[in-house]
Amino acid sequence: FRERTLIAVKPDGVQRRLVGEIIGRFERRGFKLVGIKILQASEGILANHYHDLQRKPFYPALIRYMASGPVVAMVWEGHNVVKSSRLMVGETDSSQAKPGTVRGDFSIHISRNIIHASDSVEVAEKEIGLWFHGAELIDWETKD
Ligand code: CMP
Repeated sequence: FRERTLIAVKPDGVQRRLVGEIIGRFERRGFKLVGIKILQASEGILANHYHDLQRKPFYPALIRYMASGPVVAMVWEGHNVVKSSRLMVGETDSSQAKPGTVRGDFSIHISRNIIHASDSVEVAEKEIGLWFHGAELIDWETKD
């Protein structure tokens, strides 16, 4: 089984030109990029992605934030990638995120936390299916 996760640079991360920084961190760690695109997320995709948060008081603001500009959606593959990327991304509340994590280095507030990472293998599969068509994911190996 090749573990995969959905990583998305949120609109604030794109606007702050952090896409390259974030891709670099995942590449240097050794994960494999198998899908990437920039898109303006639709209401439908966001409603589905944040389905479990629908009744939270911050939900309307969350949807407005996620629709405020383009998102860079990526699928990364590798050993324990779901768990490892959550550690690389840091706590949801940026003010609690440790230095050295994406949020701990670049963000101060939970409502502008730069990046999304799937929180379990099951959720990752569902999220990858929501954001990507199968043909957009590339299986590749290093050849010598
Ligand atoms: P993430 O964990 O990627 O997905 C759910 C998002 O909801 C979370 O990042 C935050 O961006 C947002 N969120 C969660 N809790 C709050 C909160 N209390 N106030 C504002 N935004 C929140």
